[in-house]
Amino acid sequence: MLNPFTPDFGHVPVCIAGRHELIQSMDRAFGQELRDPNLTTLLVGARGTGKTILLTALSNLAAQNGWLSLNVTALAGMQDELLDQIENQARQFIDFQEARKRTQINLGKLASISWQNIIKQPKSWRTKMTQIIEKLNECAIGVLITIDEVNPDLDEMIQLTAAYQHFIREDRKVALLMAGLPFRVSNLLRDQSVSFLRRANQYHLRPIETYEVREALIETVKDGGKDISADAVDVAASAIEGFPYMLQLVGYRFWEVSGDNRVIDLPAVERGIDLARNDFTYRILDPTLDDLSEGDVRFLAAMLVDEKGSVPAELAKRLGKSSSYVSTYRKRLLEQGVIETNGRDKLRFALPMLRKYLPEYIEEKL
Ligand SMILES: Nc1ncnc2c1ncn2[C@@H]1O[C@H](COP(=O)(O)OP(=O)(O)O)[C@@H](O)[C@H]1O
Ligand SMILES: [Mg+2]
Repeated sequence: MLNPFTPDFGHVPVCIAGRHELIQSMDRAFGQELRDPNLTTLLVGARGTGKTILLTALSNLAAQNGWLSLNVTALAGMQDELLDQIENQARQFIDFQEARKRTQINLGKLASISWQNIIKQPKSWRTKMTQIIEKLNECAIGVLITIDEVNPDLDEMIQLTAAYQHFIREDRKVALLMAGLPFRVSNLLRDQSVSFLRRANQYHLRPIETYEVREALIETVKDGGKDISADAVDVAASAIEGFPYMLQLVGYRFWEVSGDNRVIDLPAVERGIDLARNDFTYRILDPTLDDLSEGDVRFLAAMLVDEKGSVPAELAKRLGKSSSYVSTYRKRLLEQGVIETNGRDKLRFALPMLRKYLPEYIEEKL
C-alpha cells in the first residue's frame, strides 16, 4: 500500500492538521464582496512549520472562490515572474470575457483597451499590473499574490509591497499572502516604505495541538487504507510535539515499519518514532548545526541551562563576553532560524529536539 505521509518540504499533505481558523477566515475573505482585512496576511514560522504548504492550500482556496493566483518566491526577477503569470492566466480569461461581452453587444470599458495594447506597450511594471488587474476585476475576478520566503533585503520585495498598497488604495480586488521566518518578517516590517504592512494580519504558525495531530494521523492512515490503534496514535501524537514536519516523518516511518499489517500498532509506532527522530537529526539538526560556527554552537550551549528562555545580558555574563558579542550572535542565529524570540527579549530554541540533541552534537563534533 502506498505510503500516504509526505515528509517533503512544500508537499501539501493528505490532511492538514490544525490551522482551521486561518483556512476558514481566508475562505470567508475570498468569498465575500466586502474587502476583508485578512486579505493581507503574513504567515510567520520556523522551518518545517508549514508555511509553504499553507500558501499552496490557500491559493487553491482562492481559485475555488474565483480568484486568480500568482505564486512566487522572494528572489530577484520575482516581478517579471508575476507579470508572466498574470499575463498567461488572464489572457485566456479576458479574451473569453471579451468575446462574450461582444456577443452581448455590451461594449463597456472592457473593450476600450485592447489586450494587445496592455502587454506590448513599454510601461512600468505597476502600470501593466494595474491594467490587467483592472480588467480582471471588471469580470469580478480578484488577484491573489503569494510570496514565499520573504526577504527584506530584496528591493523587488519592497517595490512589490508598495505597489500592492497602491492597488488597495485604488480599491482593487487584490490579496497578498506572504510567508517567512520570524526574523525576516520582523525586519521587513521595520522598513519604513512598507510600514502599512504592520497593520496586516499576522498568523504565527504555532505548534499544532496534540488532538489535532491525532486527528490528522488517523485520517491520513485511513486515507492510505489502514487503521491505527488508539494507544499507538496517542504515543505518536505526543512524540510529534505539534511540529508539522515531524508529523510527516513519524507517520511515514511507522507506515513503513507496519509492512503488510492492516493495523498500525504500538510497537510499529515506537520504532517509527525512533527512526523519525533519526531522520530529523540527520536531515535538519546536523546540517543546521554544521553550517554554524563554533562560536554559534557555544552560544547555543550557553542557552541550555535556561529552561524558560535566555536573557541576552545573562548569556553575556555566562559566556564572559560583551553585550555586542552577544547581539552579533543573537542576530546570526535568529537569521538562521535556529533560535527565536518570545516577542520580548528572551531567546529560545526554534527547532524541536534541538535542546535535547545539542549536548550530544557538541560531544561528538566539537
Ligand atoms: N498542518 C500540517 N499538517 C500536516 N503536515 C504538515 C502541516 N504543515 C506542514 N506539514 C508538512 O510539514 C512539512 C513542511 O512543510 P512546509 O510547508 O514545507 O514548511 P515550511 O515552508 O514552513 O518550511 C511538509 O512535509 C508538509 O507536508
Ligand atoms: Mg517553505
